[in-house]
Amino acid sequence: MDKKTFYITTPIYYPSDKLHIGHSYTTVAADAMARFKRLTGYDVFFLTGTDEHGQKIQRKAEEHDKTPKEYVDEIVAWIKELWRTLDVSYDHFIRTTDDYHVKAVQNIFQKLYDQGDIYKGEYEGWYCTPCEAFFTEHQLTDGKCPDCGRPVELIREEAYFFKLSKYQDKMIEYIETHPDFIQPPSRRNEMINNFLKPGLEDLCVSRTSFDWGIPVPFDEKHVVYVWIDALSNYITALGYSLDNDELYKKFWPADVHLVGKEIVRFHTIIWPIMLMALGVPLPKKVFGHGWLILEGGKMSKSKGNVVDPKVLVDLYGVDAVRYFLLREIPFGADGVFSNKALVDRINFDLANDLGNLLSRTTTMIEKYCGGKIPTPGAVEETDNDLKSMAEALPEKVEKLMDGLEFSGALQEIWRFIGRANKYIDETMPWSLAKDPAKRERLSTVLYNLAEALRIISVHISPFMPNTPAKIREQLGIADENLTTWESVKAWGKLPAGLTVSRKEIIFPRIEEPAVPDSESDANAASVAGNTEIQKSAEDKETRKDKNKAEKAAGEAQQEEGANLISIDDFAKVQLRVAEVLEAEKVQGADKLLKLQIKLGEEKRQIVAGIAKYYTPEQLIGKKIVVVANLKPARLRGIESQGMLLAASNTEKLALLTVDKDIESGAKIK
Ligand code: MSP
Repeated sequence: MDKKTFYITTPIYYPSDKLHIGHSYTTVAADAMARFKRLTGYDVFFLTGTDEHGQKIQRKAEEHDKTPKEYVDEIVAWIKELWRTLDVSYDHFIRTTDDYHVKAVQNIFQKLYDQGDIYKGEYEGWYCTPCEAFFTEHQLTDGKCPDCGRPVELIREEAYFFKLSKYQDKMIEYIETHPDFIQPPSRRNEMINNFLKPGLEDLCVSRTSFDWGIPVPFDEKHVVYVWIDALSNYITALGYSLDNDELYKKFWPADVHLVGKEIVRFHTIIWPIMLMALGVPLPKKVFGHGWLILEGGKMSKSKGNVVDPKVLVDLYGVDAVRYFLLREIPFGADGVFSNKALVDRINFDLANDLGNLLSRTTTMIEKYCGGKIPTPGAVEETDNDLKSMAEALPEKVEKLMDGLEFSGALQEIWRFIGRANKYIDETMPWSLAKDPAKRERLSTVLYNLAEALRIISVHISPFMPNTPAKIREQLGIADENLTTWESVKAWGKLPAGLTVSRKEIIFPRIEEPAVPDSESDANAASVAGNTEIQKSAEDKETRKDKNKAEKAAGEAQQEEGANLISIDDFAKVQLRVAEVLEAEKVQGADKLLKLQIKLGEEKRQIVAGIAKYYTPEQLIGKKIVVVANLKPARLRGIESQGMLLAASNTEKLALLTVDKDIESGAKIK
């Protein structure tokens, strides 16, 4: 039987500048989806590429004293290398300057002209050069471009027009009868109410004021206006209208076009109307994802290293960057990108949750089972809990992925990782190991942990292409049958007897963001000739050494039991009672409060992220618990000389206080 097909696309990128981490977002998401579909048995075609024509690129090339082609060739090479760095597994990379694309766009233009859907007229309209988009007067926002907010210019010239208006009602009906076509649903309403219902004007589809574009086949002083050129890529890449259209027959209509929210309009109005006019079926889904923004506003390359995807991959590793992009922000929504958030994800989710699960498991199998995955024995209640969660996981993840809920899918996988870590705490293999009568139980527990890790390695593979091999290498898994989607649907496929070999920690902890988050810091770093980056590279080396030491210390701890610390470790932390003398909000930081505290004779200032839970008035006079010997740190430029203790979950936070009145400064032991 033929495999089911899956065709996914990213937008084609403007090679007008180097790309930032926001651009990588669409492509990494598309890649995770493509990999997931390949894993689950589909014949996948994953398309990306570059959108190389237009006035903006022509101008940029002139600025660089290059021909447009020379100019784009360099950037396209850089973009392809970026996708290699991010492990993007595209099946085809289309360039709108490729001969076959030029030919097919001319075929499309000619066909639409021949059938009367394209006609000659005169254009007058407001044009935004950076967005390469025309707007009518009423579409402008405060007289500026509604997409980017920049100034627009009034332009009048002879031009060809595409009869969008003819298809307007058909388009509204299509969207209304195909609720899945535009996702998420909020974008669907926006398209209908803001663009379709007010009425479509015919679209200008050629220009004469510049020549860097595809010539209109029957009137060579015109070049094809960029959206017809760009949007057609999704079918020209498959050979539409060309001699060899095997791929077109096999893969069209696309299963999903992934696009950023600002270009949803072009993909859900102009593109489907073009296809209707051509008599071509419409894509099944257009998904408009949100934007990654920086705390201070929109992302751009001028923000420096902080948004450079290659720098981030170099510092944190490709799997960590990909994990962060897909986990941090639900796919339809906008989200803030910061190095701090990235480092937190690495430390908590990757180093603590996943990394520890692997190192704890392999350490114990080496120590207690001579390095061989043991044969499991009788099953107990807790085992069943782990097992049934594992068996339910593939279906849950597949459902979430089909809805493009990358973050939700990763959360499910991490819930299982959390369950496996809890299983270690519940079963306490180190104490089972002390009792010869519990040998069989120990074998069952350690087998189950190894099996859980095998299952995890398969589930994370679409998101993190390199980590699964590292996990499998440590577990001694070489047989490819153990890495298939089918193989994770039933528990217990892992054969006993494989040789485990503990290797380097897969996700070393990172002490602090290696790239500064604030714009001024980022600029300072670039001005300083990348010293910040060099320093970060050194930090990485130091971190590696430190991690080796931590690993050794960690292994020593495992002798006694996982994650236990000695009384000497605890004694290093000086906890003391402090009285809050003053408290106030920190301007511009809605989570922070600045406290003046009294520690015996000493007065100190600390900054704490508790403003959502306590007003300044509620704190004054309270006796709280603080870590008194913490290195001072600066938060939002304000020095914090210590840290207060609080208990929290996702909704609540409660400060630690003392049960009876006691002098401030009292030690807590
Ligand atoms: N060339 C057009 C697309 C034509 S498709 C037929 C284009 N190119 S682009 O290079 O400007 O953008 C490519 C993609 O990157 C878009 O989907 C855009 O939304 C996405 N992103 C650019 N900046 C982004 C963020 N800061 N965050 C998330 N995605 C962003 O548009």
